[in-house]
Parts: sequence; structure tokens; C-alpha cells
Amino acid sequence: MSHTLRPMLRTDLERVQAIQRQHAPGTPASEWLPVAEQAIDENTDTPLAFVSEVEGGRITGYILGAIRSWEFGSPPAGWVIGIGVDIEHQHSGAGADLLRQLLRSFAARKVGAARTMVRREDIQVLRFFRTAGFNIGPYTELEMELEP
Ligand SMILES: CC(C)(COP(=O)(O)OP(=O)(O)OC[C@H]1O[C@@H](n2cnc3c(N)ncnc32)[C@H](O)[C@@H]1OP(=O)(O)O)[C@@H](O)C(=O)NCCC(=O)NCCS
Repeated sequence: MSHTLRPMLRTDLERVQAIQRQHAPGTPASEWLPVAEQAIDENTDTPLAFVSEVEGGRITGYILGAIRSWEFGSPPAGWVIGIGVDIEHQHSGAGADLLRQLLRSFAARKVGAARTMVRREDIQVLRFFRTAGFNIGPYTELEMELEP
């Protein structure tokens, strides 16, 4: 089924969150909702949050972005904060279209790079971003476990 894209509205959040929960059921709303709300701007020509929908208006996917610096003094980059496509609508190009749309907004806001974080073992998502043109970036995340 073909889909169209439009900027995300606050009234979309319930449905968007239902899609997000399909992929990450454990995410508390208190963590996710403020990030989504921050990405929504209903009065801009270059939105950083979009949804895909099929005829009849059912939302099938979403993307959330932000413009941030990775560290103090580094040039801001466009971050893909979250992307999700309803499992019944995957592999029909919605994810790629949503990503392209967000990248257009980043370019219009004059940032020089787009970034995202993906778990190393998440081969499907890695392949999705690689296909779209993403490569290994200039930073390496370091981590250590702490005693409880
Ligand atoms: C990743 C995701 C957004 C892709 O959305 P989608 O609409 O299914 O992807 P598209 O149909 O636009 O596919 C675009 C390309 O991505 C790659 N791709 C997508 N799903 C893939 C899969 N399961 N296996 C391999 N490659 C895949 C393919 O290269 C595909 O190109 P092709 O169709 O020409 O082969 C979707 O699978 C998803 O919601 N995943 C779970 C949520 C998630 O983990 N999000 C990322 C972290 S926030």
C-alpha cells in the first residue's frame, strides 16, 4: 500500500507511541514522550519529526530528529533520534522515505552531517542506515559497567 509523509503533530503521539512500543516495549513513556514532544514543531518549514500514513490516515511509521553537538565546541549535526515502522508495513519503503525527508530538513538547516546510534548487533537497522548512505562516524562510544 502506498504511503504519504507529513510533519508529526502532537495529536499523533498516541499512535506513534504504539508503533514505538512494538519495537521497544520496555521504554517508559516518561523517557520517550518528552523527546518526541521536543522534536515536534508545528510552526516550522523544516520539521524534525515526520509520520508516514496510508490512505484513510492510518499512521504507519515515524521519525524523530534533533540538531545537537556531540561535545562542546564541535559543529552541530542532525541526529536521527528514533525511527519506527509498524511491523505490518515494513519493507515498503516508508522507513527510507521518512529518513530522506528528515535529511532534507537537516540540509535546509545547514548542518554538515547526520548521525545516529545503532546497537552493533542490530544488523537489520545497520543495513537500513548503510543502504541510506550512513557510515562509521568519527567518534567511538566508550562504556564501563558500574557496581550496583
Ligand atoms: C529499520 C526500519 C525503520 C526500516 O523501515 P522499513 O520501512 O521497513 O524500510 P524500507 O522498506 O524503507 O527499507 C529500506 C532499506 O533498508 C534495508 N532494510 C530494511 N529492512 C531490512 C531488513 N529487515 N533486512 C535487511 N535490510 C533491510 C534494505 O536495504 C531496504 O532497501 P531495499 O528495500 O531496497 O532492499 C524498520 O525496520 C523498523 O521500524 N525497525 C525497528 C525499529 C528500530 O529498530 N529503529 C531503529 C532504532 S531507533
